[in-house]
Amino acid sequence: MNKISWIIGGSSGIGAALALELTKNGESVCISSSSLNSLEQKANEISKLTGKQIHYIKADVSSYQQLSQAAEEINEKYKRIDRVIFMAGIYEPMETDQMDPSLTAKIIEVNLTGAFNTVNCVLSIIKRQGFGQIAICASLSGYIGLPNSQPYASTKAALINLAETLRIDLINKVDIKLINPGFVSTRLTDKNSFAMPGLMTPKEAAILIGRGLNSGKFEIHFPKKLSLILKAISLLPYSISSTFLRILNSTKGI
Ligand SMILES: NC(=O)c1ccc[n+]([C@@H]2O[C@H](COP(=O)([O-])OP(=O)(O)OC[C@H]3O[C@@H](n4cnc5c(N)ncnc54)[C@H](OP(=O)(O)O)[C@@H]3O)[C@@H](O)[C@H]2O)c1
Repeated sequence: MNKISWIIGGSSGIGAALALELTKNGESVCISSSSLNSLEQKANEISKLTGKQIHYIKADVSSYQQLSQAAEEINEKYKRIDRVIFMAGIYEPMETDQMDPSLTAKIIEVNLTGAFNTVNCVLSIIKRQGFGQIAICASLSGYIGLPNSQPYASTKAALINLAETLRIDLINKVDIKLINPGFVSTRLTDKNSFAMPGLMTPKEAAILIGRGLNSGKFEIHFPKKLSLILKAISLLPYSISSTFLRILNSTKGI
């Protein structure tokens, strides 16, 4: 039986590459984002490449009502939702001492409130079905406070924490996955002017995510060289880790 997968934030970048990957793997994919035009374009592109129809629904993650309606629509059409993948996210580089308050609120609303909205509106459907997966895309930038990474990185740290809690509270009821990518070349990272170690293509990221979603592992993290270094740094005492990160930052290594 085909898996029914809903990718929220599937109109571009990693989410769009994942939509193509899962469609190629035989899954029935529905993509959502806040822009109908980009959804239509991406759905047509994937259909041409795979010969399979993919469904799309406009739903802004900052609106619980829009997400909830989209969830009911998908559930009505397919009679179940096997995977819900929260990929929606926005980013704006900011200097720590010059953060823009309204942009900060917007980033928190989409990246974090959007994830809570998603979990809240799909949980009842998944619990009713008795099975299902929720995957939340955070980032390696959520492991430890990195130089000039706010407010984006705070939302990603919170998403890691959210996924960790869901995994404990919903054990044996919902399969929770945490996706922590490193740097992936998308319109999001096009905004960065610094060197991005281990930069990957969306296709490379999508292949790893696709494999991870079907694995028994909770966390999907890549590239391993960077994720393991950051995990190790986050275990160090703050006096050592912050000195280390300051030095790396001054040499533009991170
Ligand atoms: N690229 C990286 O290096 C990297 C690293 C770690 C984690 N991530 C995370 O990976 C995810 C995908 O990022 P990406 O790099 O692929 O960026 P992207 O190409 O900009 O994709 C972001 C997706 O989120 C959607 N989105 C944005 N605001 C939304 C809203 N209010 N409601 C619904 N959908 C919305 C976008 O569609 P619309 O604009 O049409 O709404 C788009 O489909 C994000 O969560 C990002 O934080 C990326």
